[in-house]
Amino acid sequence: MNLRIPSFEVYKSEYQKSVDNPEAFWSEIAQTFEWKKPWTNALSWNFNEPNVKWFEGGSMNITENMLDRHLEERGDQVAFYWEPNEPGDVAKTLTYKELHREVCKLANGLKSLGIEKGDRVCIYMPMTLEGIISVIACARIGAVHSIVFAGFSSNALADRINDAKAKLVITSDGLNRGTKQLDLKAMVDEALKQCDSVEHVLVHKHTHNDTNYTEGRDVDYQSLVDSMDDNCPAEAMDSEDMLFILYTSGSTGKPKGVVHTCGGYMIYTAYSFQNVFQYEQGDVFWCTADIGWITGHSYIVYGPLLSGATSVVFEGIPTYPDCGRFWAVCDKYKVNQFYTAPTAIRALMGAGLEFVTPFKLDSLKVIGSVGEPINDEAWQWYHREIGKDNCPVVDTWWQTETGGIMISGLGSHSPMNPTHAGYPLPGIQPVLLDQDGNEITENEVEGYLCVKYPWPSILRTTYGDHERCKNVYFSNYEGYYFTGDGAKRDKDGMYRIIGRVDDVINVSGHRFGTAEIEDAINTNQHVVESAVVGYPHDIKGQGIYAYVVVDSNEADTAIELSVCDSVSDGIGRIAKPDKIQVVTGLPKTRSGKIMRRILRKIAEGERANFGDTSTLLDPTVVESILEKAK
Ligand code: WT7
Repeated sequence: MNLRIPSFEVYKSEYQKSVDNPEAFWSEIAQTFEWKKPWTNALSWNFNEPNVKWFEGGSMNITENMLDRHLEERGDQVAFYWEPNEPGDVAKTLTYKELHREVCKLANGLKSLGIEKGDRVCIYMPMTLEGIISVIACARIGAVHSIVFAGFSSNALADRINDAKAKLVITSDGLNRGTKQLDLKAMVDEALKQCDSVEHVLVHKHTHNDTNYTEGRDVDYQSLVDSMDDNCPAEAMDSEDMLFILYTSGSTGKPKGVVHTCGGYMIYTAYSFQNVFQYEQGDVFWCTADIGWITGHSYIVYGPLLSGATSVVFEGIPTYPDCGRFWAVCDKYKVNQFYTAPTAIRALMGAGLEFVTPFKLDSLKVIGSVGEPINDEAWQWYHREIGKDNCPVVDTWWQTETGGIMISGLGSHSPMNPTHAGYPLPGIQPVLLDQDGNEITENEVEGYLCVKYPWPSILRTTYGDHERCKNVYFSNYEGYYFTGDGAKRDKDGMYRIIGRVDDVINVSGHRFGTAEIEDAINTNQHVVESAVVGYPHDIKGQGIYAYVVVDSNEADTAIELSVCDSVSDGIGRIAKPDKIQVVTGLPKTRSGKIMRRILRKIAEGERANFGDTSTLLDPTVVESILEKAK
């Protein structure tokens, strides 16, 4: 169960082994887990279809590896410390034994509601222990969870419920975020007006505000669980049975459901967790992500529990009650490995050192970054003020689709270079491709980041639409998985991620397609047409700049508010544009294509030098946009 690589020398030899014989490499690691039936074939794959199968024929249940397996040795060890939004409220803990019991009870509860293996369950929950228990209870009985981040709107929730045809929604009465409360149950009620696959809504009472109750459909979480047996045998799952769906945005269309399967995901999340963070038994790990994102799936729930780790789960936000909250929590639980996003680091850096100096932070051993490129200033501040020049910063590059961390330092073993994610983990074979799809083999180059060989937790499909999976990830460059990112490789072979090369923008580590935001804007009654681009933003990494053409005489400020509402309704407040400019027209080519290059430049602050504009239908459009550019 200890999968930790002890040094950079060993990393190099393990990496070589993993490339020379990936099947043997991963089989050896897979053998350290508990299987109900051994696999017959370690790997079969074809990136053209695409079709990837790891540990075929093998049967297991991931929750036995997360819980049952640990009970004898560490039943009384804390699995989770739960820290509430309000510092004065009661914090909670769950030991492995308690977590096992709660999961079994809820799993039996799910069965009593008619949920069977393969059914989809949508989880729309705040950062509570019950949210995590819900995830694991699904996996226990082989139900496929689809967690929807509780910041998404009821329309976005409805889209995801409908796409997955979920039979059950698990939610709570409310959510606390700093000084704000949100009635999640009301959002679900609203969403369900558009959904007919849902038979029941399981409601956990968390904030205890009044909620509507629909007789026959809504079920109280606690009453259900109280009446259940605490023994629930784990369903036997094939390695390639679906474990979960997680929706994520791309350049076109509605968000797609990325599918991960049981066996490979189990092995890779545990392996990457232990190695990147160099987690040792007894350490306290804290990942500040929400369970609604892949980071929460892999490094709050699955990776740590598979490794028998103790973790902190935090309900609140980094700036409440003040900008010292993260550091107070680190000291309170003596956190050894801390994992957060550059946007949080930048915001806290901006708040000033008076929020850091009151805290010791002397338990920290490894500090991590995820979700977007970390700029040099933020990296240096994190390393110096939080890590006290004493902790390696692991800059972890990966994606919803990759299931686990792909390129990163391994604790203090790896050489560090600020703003560089570094070297690939064993088993990961990244390549840089040029425009024509040829591999660039030398160093000190830049190219499209692709992966040329499957790893255990690669996405298997996009739910209900395999063709889309093929088109988005496996068709740009035949024979490769295309990440959508551009990257540089330096003279030492270290990777530095530049950012997305497609129409995806990354706002505070949250991923949105520009088309998706435009669709939401276009639902506005005043809007005729819109174009959305990203631009560099000091805190968020990227900000959202929306150009809108309207057929109304209302004041620009009124239009702006109304456009914000449309985005909040369609996607969620997290996708609200930072800047909205009402324009008389968009710069289009004679064939009607919007020249986004120009809009991007204006959003970035360029006021001249737009390159070749000779194909523009009406060049005066650009001048008029410039007059009121923000
Ligand atoms: C995109 C994936 C993986 C968990 C959170 C985001 C960007 C992610 C890094 C990093 C530079 C990064 C990429 C990637 N990204 N980590 N360390 N350095 N960029 O998951 O929502 O699937 O987004 O986030 O552009 O493609 P996601």
